[in-house]
Amino acid sequence: MKNYIKTDEWSIVEEGFDPHLNKISESIFSLGNGHMGQRANFEEAYSGETLQGNYVAGVYYPDKTRVGWWKNGYPEYFAKVLNAANWVGIDVVINGEQLDLAKCKVIAFKRTLNMQHGYLERAFTAQLANGNQVNVNAKRFCSIVDEEAAAIRYAITPLNFSGEIKFTAFIDGDVSNADANYDEKFWDHVYHQVSGNDNYLTLKTRKTNFEVCTGSRFAVTQGGKALAVEAKGFEKEKYTASSFVTSATQGQETVVYKYACNVSSQNYEPQQLLAACKSVIERVAAKGFETMLAEQADAWLKKWAESDIVITGDASAQQGIRFNIFQLSQTYSGKDARLNIGPKGFTGEKYGGSTYWDTEAYCVPFYLATAPQQVTKNLLIYRYKQLDKAIENAAKLGFDKGAALYPMVTMNGEECHNEWEITFEEIHRNGAIAYAIFNYIRYTGDKDYLNDYGLEVLIGITRFWKQRVNWSNAKKQYVMLGVTGPNEYENNINNNWYTSTLATWCMEYTIEALAYVKANDADKYQTLLGRLNFNEAEETATWQHIISNMYYGEDKELGIYLQQDNFLDKEIIHVKDLPAASRPLNQKWSWDRILRSCFIKQADVLQGFYFFKDKFDTDTLRRNYNFYEPLTVHESSLSPCIHAILASRLGLEEDAYNFYLRTSRLDLDDYNNDTEDGLHITSMAGTWMSVVEGFAGMHVADDTLKFEPFLPGKWQSFSFNIGFRQNMLNVKIVANGVHIVNVSGGDITVNIFGKDVIIMAGAEAFAAQ
Ligand code: BGC
Repeated sequence: MKNYIKTDEWSIVEEGFDPHLNKISESIFSLGNGHMGQRANFEEAYSGETLQGNYVAGVYYPDKTRVGWWKNGYPEYFAKVLNAANWVGIDVVINGEQLDLAKCKVIAFKRTLNMQHGYLERAFTAQLANGNQVNVNAKRFCSIVDEEAAAIRYAITPLNFSGEIKFTAFIDGDVSNADANYDEKFWDHVYHQVSGNDNYLTLKTRKTNFEVCTGSRFAVTQGGKALAVEAKGFEKEKYTASSFVTSATQGQETVVYKYACNVSSQNYEPQQLLAACKSVIERVAAKGFETMLAEQADAWLKKWAESDIVITGDASAQQGIRFNIFQLSQTYSGKDARLNIGPKGFTGEKYGGSTYWDTEAYCVPFYLATAPQQVTKNLLIYRYKQLDKAIENAAKLGFDKGAALYPMVTMNGEECHNEWEITFEEIHRNGAIAYAIFNYIRYTGDKDYLNDYGLEVLIGITRFWKQRVNWSNAKKQYVMLGVTGPNEYENNINNNWYTSTLATWCMEYTIEALAYVKANDADKYQTLLGRLNFNEAEETATWQHIISNMYYGEDKELGIYLQQDNFLDKEIIHVKDLPAASRPLNQKWSWDRILRSCFIKQADVLQGFYFFKDKFDTDTLRRNYNFYEPLTVHESSLSPCIHAILASRLGLEEDAYNFYLRTSRLDLDDYNNDTEDGLHITSMAGTWMSVVEGFAGMHVADDTLKFEPFLPGKWQSFSFNIGFRQNMLNVKIVANGVHIVNVSGGDITVNIFGKDVIIMAGAEAFAAQ
């Protein structure tokens, strides 16, 4: 755990330069706009430890799978988000010596991520070996207004000398992925062009043939006035640069503005890329940096108006939650249904930037409440478009008749994960995809989603479950064998309660969805049934039989559901009784020991209690929580938030708050010593869930938004904005109750502490605790 980030409610601030922390900071201070993103690498040269990272959404490489023992059904490749051309580079040479913070004396250093207005700023004073001292102030952002564009303002002031400064603004495409399986490079050079202050470089990915054209233009001012410079171009394979030399006077600021752009063949024909890139550069350079930045600030303020959580009385918690919301908003804008949310977003390579069940189980609730409806709909459509591939995936494993198994990890719908216990067995992800459809419709009321997309996905998923269970003659019930639940610290178990519960729920929900579409769009229903070769009477009868005869492990004496058949054969030890030196288990224990132990990586049975709140009474939840929580090591960042929500439901306020703390500052404080690899973007949505679904107890039932809040002891109040159907609400929880302002939309009925309250448009309601 680290503690070097300064507390500030709207900014992330690092003061002083510690090279050992640089890779962590590069992750924390990452920028993104949904279309592209990058780690907070320096503009000028840096020979110290760094992980270079620039990413373009949706551009990936199928890196050939590397495993010890190949098993039939394994995917051929693991899709990697690609480290793309570095466009931030501005090399600075002062009186013949390169500015490089690894080689200078750093006199002062401050890095700030301004979350309110969406930009990164770095200010430092450095002394070079030649004795020259300079002040540098570098500001940059990925525009959320012009999503293909980004801009940098790089200002340098000589402090104790007048002399010559050479600037080289470059685009470097000779980059590689640190996590490449075979140390291969993934890009080929296609084209480059340098003219004056403009640079263009087009690269093409090997195998997948994505083309990305990266462009940049720079402009210079000195002492506040535009400076015409004679730039010298330089190009080589995968690299283009423009340099110029200027004489700088002591105390006078020279500013290099660099406008950059990334366009990809996902959105343009390859032959149009250069023209498209040039036109973006023309447009943003004509606007100028300050206008772009002002537009950026306005756009971010609008985003915050939809999604902010304000906490009073706890600045560190405030900073934590805003950081989580900021990074989520930087990762996914929801404008393009071909894109999704990688667990590391644009902040690192690990997890390949691919899509996991994290999206449906954790991110969907966040985007539902804080972004326009279409944003979540696009996440669902992403899976709809990959349904054919999910059917192919299932077929590879021996399933047929339209059964769909969505992949555990994917970029384009094909499975990328290549550990049998996860690829073949961690099938609960299929249920999370169905659950997200239900969740979306429950929240938005958009039932017609079923007609257009949802039902087809649900049928594919349910057909899979039907084939995945089998009748047990011994039990005279259906069982599900050879499963890995969300708890990856047990594999090949039988009757994982969570997966079985999810499977039969999918069947029930698909039957409900069939009835809805049949009643509401009979033509579409008939066409779909014909296309899917769906025998309604026969298939639904089998599903009903499974629903009524499914086996769920239970221990009546303890009053708990069994995570799997043999769970109680394990030696039950509580995590608190483990020696500190054993943690984290996945680094300290052999895998064999972990598998045989009772320790749970992340919410498993309890994940089911989270999803199906209304199916279980509080006493059943309490018994299961009291049994499983003490065994959970939370070695997945997705775990504490579920526990925070359930602890809130049980009135365990202090526990809920402690779980919240573990998620909200996980990356800022580098809890797990892994922030340098990138941020835990998807679990950031869990932080939001902890506050809104946990502390505020928000949920939807019977088409009504309900709140059962409490105020964590350390806080004076907390408030958040929520979009629900046509309304925008501001909800504020204070010590003695809840204020809700109906900011826009029509009148709305909400349920607070179990009572319905009508709030007129524009009015405020208060409910006392
Ligand atoms: C978790 C998975 C999760 C993945 C990506 C793993 O550690 O166990 O549930 O999908 O990380 O976040």
